[in-house]
Amino acid sequence: MKISYLGHSCISIETGDKTLLIDPFITGNELASAIDINTLYADYILVTHAHQDHILDVEVIAKRTGAIVVSNYEIVTYFEAKGISGHPMNHGGKWKFDFGTVHYTNAIHSSSFPDGSYGGQPGGFVIETSHHRIYIAGDTALTYDMKLIPEIIGELDLAVLPVGDNFTMGVDEAIKASKFLNCNKILGYHFDTFGYIEIDKTKAVEKFRKARKKLLLLPIGDNIKI
Ligand code: NI
Ligand code: MN
Repeated sequence: MKISYLGHSCISIETGDKTLLIDPFITGNELASAIDINTLYADYILVTHAHQDHILDVEVIAKRTGAIVVSNYEIVTYFEAKGISGHPMNHGGKWKFDFGTVHYTNAIHSSSFPDGSYGGQPGGFVIETSHHRIYIAGDTALTYDMKLIPEIIGELDLAVLPVGDNFTMGVDEAIKASKFLNCNKILGYHFDTFGYIEIDKTKAVEKFRKARKKLLLLPIGDNIKI
């Protein structure tokens, strides 16, 4: 499984012969100017919630690639009205796709579309393939519900957690989250894109190290393999 960081909360996951894109926000992100959305491929686009910094490039990429949007019912309905296919889910549910199983998990946040319309409740995902299990938290506060993830779904190989603070949990809460998740390998996201969420990256990595956890903060465009 290859996981590429495309800036802010956008990641691309290649597993088997399928590509999943999560929360594409690229054309609005000055830090991601080296990424060209016209060259991105997706079989599926997973959307955690309806905020602009998570959905901005969904429509363009889905229309070009024919990707299926996987999200909550409200977000899927919104994109279906634009002629995009979708698969609706809701909290606590799971579905077996051709690349593996997606579990739709809880998040504590808000979720309205840029025009103010209702985007349902925000969520996160666990993506489970025959070899790997990764958790993508979405925008969320630290929540005790995270303890249930390894207990009910199984051991995680990687957790993707917001670390930028202000709108989501910050570094200290993400360390606590990684303990709740019983996961030692964390990919940080939702940081540095705009002023409210700038972090000291060296300090963040060091704090995780002291807690015997590994925090990865990838340069935009970089990838890891698990
Ligand atoms: Ni948000
Ligand atoms: Mn956000």
